[in-house]
Amino acid sequence: MNVRFDPSPPLHGTLRVAGDKSISHRAAIIGAMASEPVRVTGYLDAADTRSTLSAVEQLGAIVERRAEELVIRGIGLRAAQGPGQPIDVGNAGTLMRLLPGWLAGQRGESFTLDGDASIRRRPVDRIAVPLQQMGATVQATHDGYPPFTITGAALDGITYELPVASAQVKSCLLLAGLMTPATTILEPVPSRDHTERMLLRAGAAVRREVNSDGAWRTTVGSADELEPEHIHVPGDLSSAAFLITAGVLVKGSRLVLEGVGLNWTRAEFLRILERMGAIVLGDLEPAGAFSAEEPVADLDVSHGPIEGTVVEAGEVPLAIDELPLVALLGCFAEGETIVRGAAELRVKESDRIATVVEGLRGLGAEIEAAPDGFVVRGTGGLRGGRIESHGDHRLALLGAVAGLASQEGVEVVGMEAAAVSYPNFADDIRSLTR
Ligand code: S3P
Repeated sequence: MNVRFDPSPPLHGTLRVAGDKSISHRAAIIGAMASEPVRVTGYLDAADTRSTLSAVEQLGAIVERRAEELVIRGIGLRAAQGPGQPIDVGNAGTLMRLLPGWLAGQRGESFTLDGDASIRRRPVDRIAVPLQQMGATVQATHDGYPPFTITGAALDGITYELPVASAQVKSCLLLAGLMTPATTILEPVPSRDHTERMLLRAGAAVRREVNSDGAWRTTVGSADELEPEHIHVPGDLSSAAFLITAGVLVKGSRLVLEGVGLNWTRAEFLRILERMGAIVLGDLEPAGAFSAEEPVADLDVSHGPIEGTVVEAGEVPLAIDELPLVALLGCFAEGETIVRGAAELRVKESDRIATVVEGLRGLGAEIEAAPDGFVVRGTGGLRGGRIESHGDHRLALLGAVAGLASQEGVEVVGMEAAAVSYPNFADDIRSLTR
């Protein structure tokens, strides 16, 4: 599906963005691991998070879809049974990486996970290696890529240093760690901590220590059961980021985004924007905070001039999904914008260094790829043209925002990709330009 996004009049008004995708996946999985019913409000209704609900249903959880909430009647921590047919994770990398943590502890049960063409290009080794150290068996069909089969076992606790900064891998091991005496994960660079917070809320023993160099050491102890009772999913900052960027770039805009999740381990994009000189006001959670809550606040966004910035490796995991937007902002900024230490972008739904650089260059940007990031020379604007989504939701949405801020508009080829995280983007833009 090709959709055109023309240069936009000022964006004005107030909007509530849909639920956070990362937190929704965790709510469905942890809800299914619980022994008592869990109420979930604010759950994201999009293709990725529907895949997670179907997956937990295949494992035996009951999901009641009510008008304002979901009720998940779980299976308990150790009683999931192999469904006898592959679990289809669709396009959802987070589901593909988190669910195996739970499944690894289901003694003697086997589970096969598979997904779409993009999932089949996403590496599984990063979870297979530590889960095997814990005692589970993980067999990938295509040399480290899905489909793969996990056979559960009585798990041993491990201490594991993440070779790549990845909240998905950390979360997988935290879920498995609940079925070990104790498991410790070392992260040289911090990443989003939604799993830790939700497990704390569910009564699990989760402890984080911070070394003098800022590295994290997170330990989870054995749990008999999880009891989160009620989980509220805040608005998705990663989806809001597209509207924020549009608000900053489209002349005369002023918009308020309500109820956005502002966990500091997700909100580095806002700090990057601040450095660029953008006017985005809101109550940010102080860096270093850790509790069982997910902070929520409103964001007030105004159009204004911006300047280039440098994003270093330590910031990358805290803004990983927003880095394509940093590239777009860089096109409009004064001076150079550089992103370094972000080689992980190459193993997302597409190779996001290659697709962002090729896509934005096709719209008139002066942008160069590096092995671990990109360099953009700001020219104050963007001509427009055509951009290919490569089946990647964040590329489709990037193209759409580029179109709104461009001189000639942008045609997004493959806009349907946006359905996995933000199906209503075009409706939201219409409501802000009425
Ligand atoms: C996610 C973590 C990130 C992010 C992805 C969602 C999560 O992946 O890119 O969209 O929900 O934990 P990595 O942890 O692999 O960097």
